[in-house]
Order: sequence, then structure tokens, then C-alpha cells
Amino acid sequence: MWAKHKVVETNATLLMILSLIVVAIGGIIEIAPLFYLQNTIEKVRGMRPYSPLELAGRNIYVREGCYVCHSQMVRPFRDEVERYGHYSLAAESMYDHPFQWGSKRTGPDLARVGNRYSDEWHVQHMIDPQSVVPETIMPKYGFLKDTLLRTDDIVDHLKANRAVGVPYSDEMIANAKADLVSQGNAEADGADDVVKRYAKAQVRDFDGDPSRLTEMDALIAYLQMLGTLVEFDVYRADQNLR
Ligand code: HEC
Repeated sequence: MWAKHKVVETNATLLMILSLIVVAIGGIIEIAPLFYLQNTIEKVRGMRPYSPLELAGRNIYVREGCYVCHSQMVRPFRDEVERYGHYSLAAESMYDHPFQWGSKRTGPDLARVGNRYSDEWHVQHMIDPQSVVPETIMPKYGFLKDTLLRTDDIVDHLKANRAVGVPYSDEMIANAKADLVSQGNAEADGADDVVKRYAKAQVRDFDGDPSRLTEMDALIAYLQMLGTLVEFDVYRADQNLR
């Protein structure tokens, strides 16, 4: 046995070939199952693609680099769960391209900020963060309230997301622009359709000015949705958790 092993150890080429075979076996065992699994993310009830207005808000979040100071991932540690709520599930970022987990928390985690503050609080906090939290170093984003939301490219954004696997239906894409506008105005004719297509979508004027659809409307629609889609009572029951 040892004599045979000596052959391997003294022959560099043979050693390399045999090492490659051993590593390849390990690699195949790790990688092959991924080709057969339909999905590596556990399906969770409640998760759905972003509504057009939420998606537009998400794009603004990315554009403004909010992720530089904010994470969107509650880790499964007791202190985090007590502060922010249930730890984040993989499914909660399955429609995020790119994901917004972030790597730095200058400000708090935002994964569960939805419905935690009023729209008015958000508007005020975005325009002048120091007026609500005097010691904050968050920059002012008041210009979002003066910038009309671009609506002509939303269909392309939905299509781009569909191309990378987000299940937007043809109907969602055909109505993207109408849904985008309707979600910012509870009086709009299409308001009910938005909720039909995107369960739990919050339909209202978000920035305090119903006459215009601004980037502030989109960003706050996005923030108010974060972490509100999964029904954690149902999820816990499904998992037999407390
Ligand atoms: C320079 C770092 C920085 C940047 C960039 C930044 N924030 Fe903040 N943010 C903070 C800090 C610090 C706080 C905590 C104090 C406060 O509430 O202002 C905060 C708080 C918040 C809160 C309240 C969270 C809570 O649970 O109380 C929200 C919502 C928020 N930020 C959204 C945003 C959005 C949206 C953007 C991008 C448009 C952004 N922030 C960009 C630093 C930042």
C-alpha cells in the first residue's frame, strides 16, 4: 500500500492527474444537484414581483446609492430580530436584480421598514432628515419631490426584469404604464387593477401632492412595501415554528 503510494508521490504528473480526479468528484457532488433542482429558493407565500411604481422607486433607491448606508437583510440574530422583526428570507430578495443586501449600516436596516412610519414622516425625513432626527448624517433628498417620475421607460424595466427571470406576465407588461400612474392616485380608475395584479399593493398619493407623480411618490411606495409581503403568521405555521 505505502509502496504504491510512493509511486504517486514521486511522480508529479500522476499526482496532479489523480488530484484533479479527486477534486472533480467533489465538485460534481456539489454542483450536479443544482442542475436538477428547479429552484434553490424556498417558495414563500406572499412574495410577488414589484409593482411598476415600487420598481421605479427601487430604481431610484439604487440610483441614489441608498445601499451605501443601508442594508436590506435582517440577520438571524436575536438582537436584530428584536429590533427589526423576522430575519430576512431568501425568497424576499428573489425578485431583486441586483439584490440590495448591502454591506454597511450607517443607517438602520430597511428590509422591514414598510408601514413603520407614515408617508408624511418619510416625505419630511427625505426633504430634511435633521428635522426629524437631529443627529442624523443622512443627506437631504428633497429634489425627489420636485422631480416628475419618468413613465415612458417603465415597460422596458419590467421586460428587463422578465429577461432575468422575474415572472411578469404579458398582462402586467401591457399595463405597466397605466399601473404605474394609477398606484400613485387612489381615485384613479385603474386603482383596483393594480391591487388585483399586485397583491397588497398600497395605492395612494405618497408625497402629499396628488396633482403630480414624482420620484418621491415612487421611492416612498417602495419603502412602504419593504418587508410587508410575506405573511409571517402563515409562514411560521407552514414551517411548524412558533
Ligand atoms: C450617508 C449615509 C446615508 C445615506 C446615503 C442614506 N441614508 Fe437613510 N439613514 C441614514 C442614517 C444615519 C439614518 C438614521 C437616522 C435617521 O433616521 O435619519 C437613516 C435613516 C433612514 C430611514 C429611517 C429608518 C428607520 O428605521 O428609522 C429611512 C427610511 C432611510 N434612511 C431611507 C434612505 C433612503 C431611501 C436613502 C436613499 C435615497 C437613504 N436613506 C440614504 C444614513 C443614510
